Amino acid sequence: MLRGKHILLGVTGSIAAYKAAILIRTLVREGAEVRVVMTPLAKEFITPLTLATLSRHPILVDFFDPEDGRWNSHVSLGEWADAYVIAPATANTLAKMACGIADNLLLTTYLSARCPVFVSPAMDLDMYAHPATRANLDKLRGMKVTVIEPGEGELASGLVGKGRMAEPEEIAEAVGTWFRNQKKKNLHGRRLMVTAGPTREAIDPVRYISNHSSGKMGYALAEELAARGAEVYLVTGPTNLPVGKGIHRIDTVSAQEMYEKACEIFPQTDGAVMCAAVADYTPAEVSDRKIKKEDGSWSLELRPTHDIAAELGRIKENRLLVGFALETDHERLNARSKLERKRFDFIVLNSLRDAGAGFGVDTNKITILERDGSCTDYPLKSKREAAGDIADKIEKYLS
Ligand code: PMT
Repeated sequence: MLRGKHILLGVTGSIAAYKAAILIRTLVREGAEVRVVMTPLAKEFITPLTLATLSRHPILVDFFDPEDGRWNSHVSLGEWADAYVIAPATANTLAKMACGIADNLLLTTYLSARCPVFVSPAMDLDMYAHPATRANLDKLRGMKVTVIEPGEGELASGLVGKGRMAEPEEIAEAVGTWFRNQKKKNLHGRRLMVTAGPTREAIDPVRYISNHSSGKMGYALAEELAARGAEVYLVTGPTNLPVGKGIHRIDTVSAQEMYEKACEIFPQTDGAVMCAAVADYTPAEVSDRKIKKEDGSWSLELRPTHDIAAELGRIKENRLLVGFALETDHERLNARSKLERKRFDFIVLNSLRDAGAGFGVDTNKITILERDGSCTDYPLKSKREAAGDIADKIEKYLS
């Protein structure tokens, strides 16, 4: 999301200024061009030479160059930037920003910036908790400045609490998410259902059959579709994941429950993405008491569950139906057969043979197979980025 973006990094005088070096590397690695403006005090904490070397641009501190009188124009810096990230942001700088004080280049640039502004506070826990700082942060939020919350942990003072500057990866992620959310809301007015996570099939009150799905892929899809303006219904099996604002979450446990909820919601939507790892079999009988251990082996009779996707394929009419195929062998052949059998419009294949793909991990490597015979391979990406590729395809089908 940061490829080609101009990021202006403002560094203020905090012990956390050393993290600015790592932040520059992270932003540059993600394809951004970075320029740095520092407050005079920030130079005491990290040298301009370090930051200039990493950003590959001279560092700006003063209003003009004392040697030749050349101006560092805060207006053109503000215009150059696609985002202005002030990290670390001290209590002093936050207070000045909240009041419109402009006594250094970093602050004058803030006042002239037309781009989104992010601040990553870094200070001692008592300074962070002080009502004056809280009020300044609230004021800045009210001015549409994004506050990247500090973390909790050991602080430079030796005290432990909230005030540690967010990690550089978190800051880069927050900026990337902001840009991602600015994508046109092409799915505005669409209602989409996503199934996600595993199901649990009870054997008795203490045991169940399930699988390794964490829900990460399905939740990433729900969030991506919602970010593009869709009204999203997330029919989820049991997971530990929080759900983004504005997404309707429908909790289910068993395949039967997921089937009932999905069949109820699907007719009210424009389409569904079937990302859940639904159990294909469930115990024929559920014991209402804990089954006692006995000597020797034990057999459990299983009966098939409803195939939710196949049922939605049967009733879909002109709704979009997107499937997933999780395979371990003969991947494309199996995926194509599911595409046909379940009447998907397209199917997203992920294989457990690919490192970094499938269950539990934060990444996925997908291939999209379509009914016209086409097949597109995507490289290994974060699940959120993979969700972006699937959402692009959904937009194409719905347009
Ligand atoms: O949750 P994560 O840890 O992030 O992992 C993501 C994932 C690996 C679970 C996900 O990317 C994925 O592949 N989901 C589909 C898993 C699956 O059950 O695949 P399948 O090939 O067995 O099923 C084919 C399709 O039919 C799927 O769309 C599935 O949701 C659907 N199905 C299957 C059985 C059933 N009873 N009802 C269904 O709707």
